[in-house]
Amino acid sequence: MSITNLRFGVVKEYLMICGQGVDSPFICLIYKVIGKINKIFYEGLRPCLSITDPQFIRSDSTTPKDPLHTSLFFSKYPEWKRIRAILSPSFTTGKLKSFQPMFRNSLNNLIDKLKDEFKHNEITDLRPIYDSFAFDVISKSAFGLNTNIMDNPDNPIFMAAKSFFQTGLTQQTIADYIKQVIKARIDSNFEAKDLLQLSINASVFSPKVTSNSFEKLTEEEVLAQSINLMAAGYDTTSTQLCFITRFLALNPDFQTQLVDEMNDSFGGKTDVDYESLMKMSYLDAFLKEIMRINCSVNRIDRIATNDCVIDGIFLPKGTSIIIPIWALHLDADNYDEPDVFKPQRFLAENSSNIKDYTYLPFASGPRNCIGKRFAEMEIKYFLELDFYKLIQTSTMKQLMVKVKPRNSQ
Ligand code: HEM
Repeated sequence: MSITNLRFGVVKEYLMICGQGVDSPFICLIYKVIGKINKIFYEGLRPCLSITDPQFIRSDSTTPKDPLHTSLFFSKYPEWKRIRAILSPSFTTGKLKSFQPMFRNSLNNLIDKLKDEFKHNEITDLRPIYDSFAFDVISKSAFGLNTNIMDNPDNPIFMAAKSFFQTGLTQQTIADYIKQVIKARIDSNFEAKDLLQLSINASVFSPKVTSNSFEKLTEEEVLAQSINLMAAGYDTTSTQLCFITRFLALNPDFQTQLVDEMNDSFGGKTDVDYESLMKMSYLDAFLKEIMRINCSVNRIDRIATNDCVIDGIFLPKGTSIIIPIWALHLDADNYDEPDVFKPQRFLAENSSNIKDYTYLPFASGPRNCIGKRFAEMEIKYFLELDFYKLIQTSTMKQLMVKVKPRNSQ
């Protein structure tokens, strides 16, 4: 089917052509076909406005009272504002630093897992391993859950989180589990150093007065936030780790540059500290560029909660508004040679060339990703894992990536 034959509204038909789970090419195609001016198109029978002008993305992202400002994610304004304010202190630098031992522990488990896999198998599917690694990190940091998911992929909580977006039943499994953890902590007066504890302390479970003026989280809200973090925090990160592995296998020069910077910064030390990691400018630029070219979340959606007008277009209440993140990242008006991987775009000396609201891997504005810094830290720790060397072994049909210890040539 050629682009000109595409019938807007027949999303399923087009998705069948693209293959499974390929919203991204669809979104980029819509962008190409309807043009970049904010335009209405149909997704099934649902009218959608695609916003691509950074000026309008800005107004959508920064005006909480705007009727458009209703994310598909969980709570709606004004409840969202209260919960966000309560949860935000959970992601300060100090809190992130306190997660370092958990990250380190999960990384050690990952190394053991990979060693074992490569000893016994010629071919290893990294996706489930990265899924379990990312889940291990979030479940340790969020709930102090210490079940070594990497060796127990059948763990019911992990299974439930994996099918989170499919059925409400799975949410119940996680909720029941978290209820038990909360009860055990309250009964034993135990204060853990994880995200759940921060929610408990800001909730009706705690006699402490909260430091802000917001009403405390209810029991239901504590559970909802926990489930939210668990589900939002692992799949996105694991997807990114897959992109990175594939990219580095295909482009060994970038591997060398990353390793060179690590050697310069740490001089062979294995115990990498948070401050040094965050100062590595090439690592940071590399991560930003890989998330430009391969973003885990390729679009975000909003719903008009009232009739309104955007860019002269009347939107009845209920209209979907999409911001096609991936299409913006690959637009030649926003990035020169957008298909070329160039981390230097994001080095400090060039970063002023990036137009506001054209780089949105974690969305933007008050409703952006609350776990952004957590995810960046996790991926940087992962990239510091130069223990293995990635080698492209075949491009036939399916890409093969071979991973072997760096010191064995
Ligand atoms: C590479 C990893 C990640 C990517 C690319 C990513 C991306 C995003 C994006 C684009 C949004 C905005 C969605 C929207 O506006 O509809 C979002 C929201 C969110 N993310 Fe992430 N995320 C990542 C990792 C994480 C992690 C590790 C956590 C938790 C620790 C997390 C928790 C959340 C939550 C709770 C929201 C909703 C925020 C709100 O509505 O106020 N994310 N994420």
